[in-house]
Amino acid sequence: MAKDYKQLIKNLDPAKIPQHIGIIMDGNGRWAKKRMQPRLFGHRAGAKAIRKVVELGVELKLKIITFYAFSTENWTRPADEVNGLLKLLIEYLTDEIPELNAQNIFVDFIGSEAGLDEDYLATIHSLAAQTHQNTGMKVNIAFNYGGRLEIIEAIKKLKPDEIEKLNPDNFGDYLYTAGQPDPDLIIRTSGEYRLSNFLIWQAAYSEIYITDTLWPDFDKIAFLNALLDFQSRKRRFGGIG
Ligand code: IPE
Ligand code: IPE
Ligand code: MG
Repeated sequence: MAKDYKQLIKNLDPAKIPQHIGIIMDGNGRWAKKRMQPRLFGHRAGAKAIRKVVELGVELKLKIITFYAFSTENWTRPADEVNGLLKLLIEYLTDEIPELNAQNIFVDFIGSEAGLDEDYLATIHSLAAQTHQNTGMKVNIAFNYGGRLEIIEAIKKLKPDEIEKLNPDNFGDYLYTAGQPDPDLIIRTSGEYRLSNFLIWQAAYSEIYITDTLWPDFDKIAFLNALLDFQSRKRRFGGIG
């Protein structure tokens, strides 16, 4: 693995590293099922996979990684799975904060706060705040995130004079990702060919990379392969390139 890894890193063009990558971390349930384990076993393994991806992101000097952790539609899952996922988010952050600080990573949440338990929100925000002195890579955790709801919440914030001035270039200023570049690349694991309501406004011109690898198995080599594939694309943005 070490040799492959070095070779793959060498093949990357440092001038074409994406600024922002969005990751749809899918396949935890299937990973657990293959091992005849409960779904939460897969979610725990999935949480562990995040660290390696973050490490490589720092090494490659990415600006932002957005991890899709829990969608506005995921509330429809059985209560024990939902509760397990909510608990896991707190456990994950609590365990990872020393490492995130060691790597100078700023953690933030994107998603809706509507209807969420206030104590829960206060807990996750105070955990993220422990990284807010950091100046390096930004990690967005998309939690209770839905692209359609994000757009509706943005519209509801608009004042009449802002509506007047609205255009495709400034609408992003009202989204959860205000001030951040759109994702250059969106990675989805587990072989599903859909966005599932992830960054639907911001992904207008994102390159999309889908791998059959299930999220808990996604490692640095898998990440490098996604980046190399991205670097082989010709982005045209509607022009003739
Ligand atoms: C992704 O894994 C994690 C979340 C959606 C929270 P899944 O739980 O969707 O795993 P599969 O798709 O059932 O394998
Ligand atoms: C998308 O995965 C949401 C997250 C990864 C958090 P899902 O497993 O919820 O998506 P669908 O249901 O297959 O579209
Ligand atoms: Mg899934």
